[in-house]
Amino acid sequence: MKKAPPSIETQELREFGEVLRGRRTVNLYLQTPVPEELVRDAVKAATWAPNHHLTEPWRFVLPGERTVEKILDLCQRIVSEKKGADLALHKRESWSQKPGWLIVTCRRSDDELRQNEDYAACSAAVQNFMLYLWKAGVGSKWTTGDITRDPRFFEILGVDQSEEFVVGLIWYGYPKLTPAQSRKELSEVLITLP
Ligand SMILES: Cc1cc2nc3c(=O)[nH]c(=O)nc-3n(C[C@H](O)[C@H](O)[C@H](O)COP(=O)(O)O)c2cc1C
Repeated sequence: MKKAPPSIETQELREFGEVLRGRRTVNLYLQTPVPEELVRDAVKAATWAPNHHLTEPWRFVLPGERTVEKILDLCQRIVSEKKGADLALHKRESWSQKPGWLIVTCRRSDDELRQNEDYAACSAAVQNFMLYLWKAGVGSKWTTGDITRDPRFFEILGVDQSEEFVVGLIWYGYPKLTPAQSRKELSEVLITLP
């Protein structure tokens, strides 16, 4: 006799779904500090992402105040080089409002399949990090702007660009504003075959 599957109508499952669907990319943050222990727990959760061959290809860099200052300087320089001083200053000011910073890197590989799978694993790790924080009331934003490929950024972080690449610069903090978002209907993305 086949055993009935466990209930899919539990409060826990409903709440879990709400966390998954409710997480939003946050642009505006309160200046309330995020406890470092929570961030460390979120990084720990990130490392439990699936990763093929257990390569654990990720590294997580938590910059302190002095390093963030260097990143802000570089951000301003990059924008100034491309778009002029006014916009650069504006961007620096906007970035200086981000209360928390995390950089996630992935080990490079000469093997294309390994590289793709490692990047996939790192992406799953970033999602774990963001979801863990979200459940604790902390929003985040995953960015991949020009700075994340700039050699000067790697110098600031002390990361060897020939060995690792940046998967994302993640800002986090308690949301000042949580934007609305939408997704396609399930019927547009889910194909069921006989
Ligand atoms: C790999 C990756 C890179 C991203 N880079 C940026 C970025 O550089 N700038 C940005 O505004 N958003 C970036 N995002 C965030 C997306 O814009 C955001 O997830 C999307 O708008 C959906 O919003 P949601 O996260 O609230 O569902 C990135 C997301 C991913 C997965």
